Amino acid sequence: MAQFAATHIPVLRDEALAGLALRAEGRYFDGTFGRGGHARAVLSHLNAHGRLLLMDRDADAIAEAQRAFANDPRVAIRQGNFADCGEWSEVRDLDGALLDLGVSSPQLDDPRRGFSFRHDAPLDMGMDPSAGESAADFLNTAEEGEIADVLWRCGEERMSRRIARAIVNARAQSPIASTRELAELVERAIGRRERNKHPATRTFQALRIHVNDELDSLKRGLRALTAALKPGGRLAVISFHSLEDRIVKNFIRGEVPATTRRGLPLPEATQSPLRAVGRAQFPSEKEIAANPRARSAVLRIAEKNPIGAGT
Ligand SMILES: C[S@@+](CC[C@H](N)C(=O)[O-])C[C@H]1O[C@@H](n2cnc3c(N)ncnc32)[C@H](O)[C@@H]1O
Repeated sequence: MAQFAATHIPVLRDEALAGLALRAEGRYFDGTFGRGGHARAVLSHLNAHGRLLLMDRDADAIAEAQRAFANDPRVAIRQGNFADCGEWSEVRDLDGALLDLGVSSPQLDDPRRGFSFRHDAPLDMGMDPSAGESAADFLNTAEEGEIADVLWRCGEERMSRRIARAIVNARAQSPIASTRELAELVERAIGRRERNKHPATRTFQALRIHVNDELDSLKRGLRALTAALKPGGRLAVISFHSLEDRIVKNFIRGEVPATTRRGLPLPEATQSPLRAVGRAQFPSEKEIAANPRARSAVLRIAEKNPIGAGT
């Protein structure tokens, strides 16, 4: 029997659904299936003509999607990074798209995945462990300056240089292999500074974001989904830290430079193809009490402008 949570409590589910303004025969995309909390709720609003496209990078999430929905003719499922969703021919003419960013409870709670310093485990952190380098590979090979840069950019860790120096000193003795080793090393390097926060929290967040290229994936995913939405189609994005939320907020405002289909920057930023629907939404005290992982969530909703109102 598994010793870890196999379920994930969906965050801001009703608010996200309301923001998507679901139509029973509509065509929807959930790029972060996880354990399907949001997807199930979307599906319960669709009739026989509705369509729901499900994606996740994580093989366990996709196995759960297959188990639950393989026989539902309204549902299509694909493993992959939502940044590349434009390559899936089904992802077009969308009435709505949802991204619920970050990691799921089963990923965090499964010690084998190495996402959390609460369990001692190999330092992996890949959302798709079969692809890309592990956190351990990065820490044991990158230059000190690059490690410091990742901790600063992806974790907003003010002690990034001191931690990077400690990592490089430690790996000169033996490679850093486990979550506990890294958590203890960070604690020795910077001490305990905040009452309810382990000193390695930002370091772990930064490594996870770096190893999974999360910020760039988010920018690419937002562009691809905006292109795939119908005019009037809705985008709902749930973020869990300020780095992500800033990207989403700026993208909706049109402040992320637009690019051509080949990724080349356009000569000048054009008017945003989206308009924000309402303000950012946060979980209620009641939701946070029932699910502490909802604590830092922010939901933003946007609508694609009619053709000609933007690009
Ligand atoms: C917070 S969970 C989603 C939970 C889901 N909404 C639910 O209710 O069960 C985030 C999920 O997104 C996936 N994910 C994160 N970034 C991704 C990306 N760039 N492409 C595809 N999946 C991604 C993770 O593997 C994880 O399963």
